[in-house]
Amino acid sequence: MASGSGSNFEAIVRAVKKKKIKNAVVALVITDQENAFVRCRARRHGIKDIFVDPAGYKSRELFDRHLVRLIKNAGADLVVLAGYMRVLTPGFVKAFRNRVVNIHPALLPAFKGVNAIERAYRRGVKVTGVTVHFIDEQVDHGPIIAQKALEVRAGESLASLEQRVHRVEHRLYSEMIDHLLREKTKVKGRYVSCK
Ligand code: GRF
Repeated sequence: MASGSGSNFEAIVRAVKKKKIKNAVVALVITDQENAFVRCRARRHGIKDIFVDPAGYKSRELFDRHLVRLIKNAGADLVVLAGYMRVLTPGFVKAFRNRVVNIHPALLPAFKGVNAIERAYRRGVKVTGVTVHFIDEQVDHGPIIAQKALEVRAGESLASLEQRVHRVEHRLYSEMIDHLLREKTKVKGRYVSCK
């Protein structure tokens, strides 16, 4: 599920093609943005994409219920949020408990929410990074699966830091998706253990 450019989606598709993510199929792309570039990427790779217009639903719950149906019909084992900008309802979270992953471009719980790279940069942090986590009912809050830290270089520009964070995201997300699809993962409270 994505709302924007889809560079993480692209990295995932490439990792599947190169068998870095083994025995996997990207079944479906769902977006809430009609003009999201991720749709062009999906078509280029021959992957089905569906735009679901939130304006067509009376409530967030009804919108999410429709997404749950689409995902179940696609037979997905894992739901991957890749720059999906809507907050998921408790009904959605419950339907796929510990099967929805998200990537965040900071070391959670620091810099939750949008523009995390820029906010970390402007705050003057020396270390930032990337977090992959399961979703729960709160934004950027669910149990942490993996994190990768990155040192901010002296005098580095925001653009350079953004580029390096995204590079880390693309690698880490694919590695974790491969892992989650193949290994047994236990979630106990806030703790995730991968065998
Ligand atoms: C990424 O930085 C991701 O961490 C965040 O949204 C951004 C999506 O970028 N959740 P893209 O659409 O995958 O290029």
